[in-house]
Amino acid sequence: MSRGKVIRYFTIYGFFRTLVKVAGRSRNMFLRLFFIRLFWRRKANISLIGCGQFGFSTISYFLLKKNGNHFLECFDIDEEHQKTTADFWGYDPQHDATHLLNNLHCEYVYIASNHASHTDYAMQALQNGKAVYIEKPVSVNYDQFRSIFGLRRKLFLAGDKVFVGYNRPFSPAILKLNEFIRNSMLPVTLNCFVIGHFIEKDHWYRNPEEGTRICGNLGHWLDLSINLLNTRGKIPELYTISISYSNKDEIDDNISITMVTELNDLITIIITSRSEPFEGINESIQFQSGDTIAKIDDFRQMYLWKSSKKMKYRFNPKDVGHSNAINQPFNGMRRDFTEIEVSTVIMLEITDMVKKREILRVVEPFMIIDTQLSWFKKL
Ligand SMILES: NC(=O)c1ccc[n+]([C@@H]2O[C@H](COP(=O)([O-])OP(=O)(O)OC[C@H]3O[C@@H](n4cnc5c(N)ncnc54)[C@H](O)[C@@H]3O)[C@@H](O)[C@H]2O)c1
Repeated sequence: MSRGKVIRYFTIYGFFRTLVKVAGRSRNMFLRLFFIRLFWRRKANISLIGCGQFGFSTISYFLLKKNGNHFLECFDIDEEHQKTTADFWGYDPQHDATHLLNNLHCEYVYIASNHASHTDYAMQALQNGKAVYIEKPVSVNYDQFRSIFGLRRKLFLAGDKVFVGYNRPFSPAILKLNEFIRNSMLPVTLNCFVIGHFIEKDHWYRNPEEGTRICGNLGHWLDLSINLLNTRGKIPELYTISISYSNKDEIDDNISITMVTELNDLITIIITSRSEPFEGINESIQFQSGDTIAKIDDFRQMYLWKSSKKMKYRFNPKDVGHSNAINQPFNGMRRDFTEIEVSTVIMLEITDMVKKREILRVVEPFMIIDTQLSWFKKL
């Protein structure tokens, strides 16, 4: 990270979060001395699969910040990533994921590896009786969807042990907005303008098995949309989805997705990534439902109008909901899992659309879920 970027990040994310982002990139072991909670070890029961940027500087950081040092073991196919994460946070490095997943001391497994591997690791963790936190996306195709969502439904009565990394619904801005729209049963208009990271052509996100940027990035705002629709009282059953491609050779960058529903909701998501934004990902979200209007500026501030009343909220440091999302197993904040099932189906349908360069499709997610998971219902 350049010095200019570090200084800018301090103003956006605060001292420790910037420090850990620098540590994630440099893997400088000296910086661990700033995290004094690391030196007070508690019961070691949390293991990590995937020791890249997110596992290192977001998951491990927010776990330590809220719960202290419960780190047990970590695994990554990249030995250097694995070793530096282990050395920094105090995990015991494992050269085999199965060993980590079988460890009787492990109660929670956090998965932050490549997208195509999330479902398999999560299945193994659940089958071994662990609670599992799956970074987005949960699944990148319908085979994976059937396996993991089916297994979760089957195990649900034994206690819900699946947590997912879609964090926007846990941000203070969205939690505040929820208070004004809960069960209003009014149509929603939502616009998300997202300036995403510039991803090189050879980045692993673009490998064919990883599900495109629709699974890798766009899933966030699809999930946020379903969360807001559900909060206002009902998840719609029918979505007319249209896609505009700025360049048909770039099927998952610089595109616009529009969804209208049978409840007269109107949602547009634009993802643009024509160069790397200096301050990282940047989001403008505008919302209207009844007499509630919200403008969220990059999760750093929000203007909210309720009829004639105008409110302004500042979020300093910027808070996209990572802390709350990552600590779901411990803070009692739970998502309605139907939202995750529906948003995943819509994400998979849009992934299929972009692969086929389609511009229009009508999607009925509940029918798809019923069909995909019917085998498990018979169990
Ligand atoms: N919620 C968010 O806002 C957010 C933000 C960034 C990344 N993420 C998610 O976090 C996850 C990791 O992303 P990242 O930015 O850290 O990427 P990264 O490339 O920095 O790290 C990925 C790591 O996974 C490892 N890996 C690859 N295949 C593996 C396998 N089969 N088993 C074990 N390890 C494997 C790689 O060696 C690498 O260390 C992804 O799912 C990504 O979508 C979430």
